[in-house]
Amino acid sequence: MTAIRSVVLGCGSYLPQRVLTNAELATKVDTSDEWIVQRTGIRERHIAAEGEFTSHLAIRAAQAALANAGIDAQSIDLIVLATSTPDYTFPATAVAVQSGLGIHHGAAFDLQAVCSGFVFALATADNFLRAGAFKRALVIGAETFSRILDWTDRGTCVLFGDGAGAVVLEAQEQPGKPSDRGILTTHLRSDGRHRSKLFVDGGPSSTRTVGHLRMEGREVFKHAVGMITDVIVDAFNASGLSADDIDWFVPHQANKRIIDASAHKLHIAPEKVVLTVDRHGNTSAASIPLALSVAVADGRIKRGDLVLLEAMGGGFTWGSALLRW
Ligand code: ACO
Repeated sequence: MTAIRSVVLGCGSYLPQRVLTNAELATKVDTSDEWIVQRTGIRERHIAAEGEFTSHLAIRAAQAALANAGIDAQSIDLIVLATSTPDYTFPATAVAVQSGLGIHHGAAFDLQAVCSGFVFALATADNFLRAGAFKRALVIGAETFSRILDWTDRGTCVLFGDGAGAVVLEAQEQPGKPSDRGILTTHLRSDGRHRSKLFVDGGPSSTRTVGHLRMEGREVFKHAVGMITDVIVDAFNASGLSADDIDWFVPHQANKRIIDASAHKLHIAPEKVVLTVDRHGNTSAASIPLALSVAVADGRIKRGDLVLLEAMGGGFTWGSALLRW
């Protein structure tokens, strides 16, 4: 029995030019490079320029992904853009990206699952492609978290950065085996009882303002590793594959301690873990495609490699995806 799979044709990313180091942050709030590196692994992050919007970062990442895939933008018929920092309340940032790429057909929409956004967007596009509704999709994670940070709160402002990443997916017939190329399985979860542990204290319907990010860091940390590993075990059970089969583990880049603890619990060797949190900070929905782009560009991720993705974030939301590059 053959199967339709969503195969990755290419990926790309974009980071704003401006780099904000821990040392520079320490001149603005009461913190230190040592504290930030020890607790999070973060050394620097990129910050969007005045007038540089989420859609601008997303368009640059999408163009890089299309170039990497070697395909024309006109062959894309679906754009799913994961973001919690849209250009405007509406319309969706995805339609600005669609228009910026010169595409006037198909569908484009935003998806909001905070730091899990890219995994949720990937699963959404995968289901549309496998159902035959669309043929080629751009899945984008793009954020300007610098715009929703309280720059006087040292507990949160040191953690996040701006950026965007994208992958191009194509529906392809595959043999229907675990050795298939493409997305093999995705698993999504959410539990709204935790929504006040990581949230933005503004919105059109509540305060009519944009608001600032608020987080109970310890509470997030407490739940993260268990949720991440649970949903990865779901991926292993559904696919019949195991940690030994994984070539690359590309987790959401929130905090090196969460990543290390998750990899350790799953018996994934440290050399298989792709880490970019040191240079990017937590870019929320953008972090996974940014990390994928780095590992593809430096030659680590190659065609045929088994890649495991996971994310956890506000909501809480969490999810995993297992794919063969
Ligand atoms: N610099 C110096 N000191 C700080 C800073 C800072 N930037 N931030 C907090 N502190 C202080 C606190 O004020 C506190 O001081 P006190 O003991 O005098 O009160 C002390 O450090 C300890 O504070 P905690 O918040 O308990 O520190 P903790 O060890 O929990 O580390 C951190 C905080 C890094 C946020 C951690 O809880 C964490 O990583 N949580 C996960 C959160 C996360 O990654 N969120 C990302 C979004 S969710 C996601 O993407 C998965």
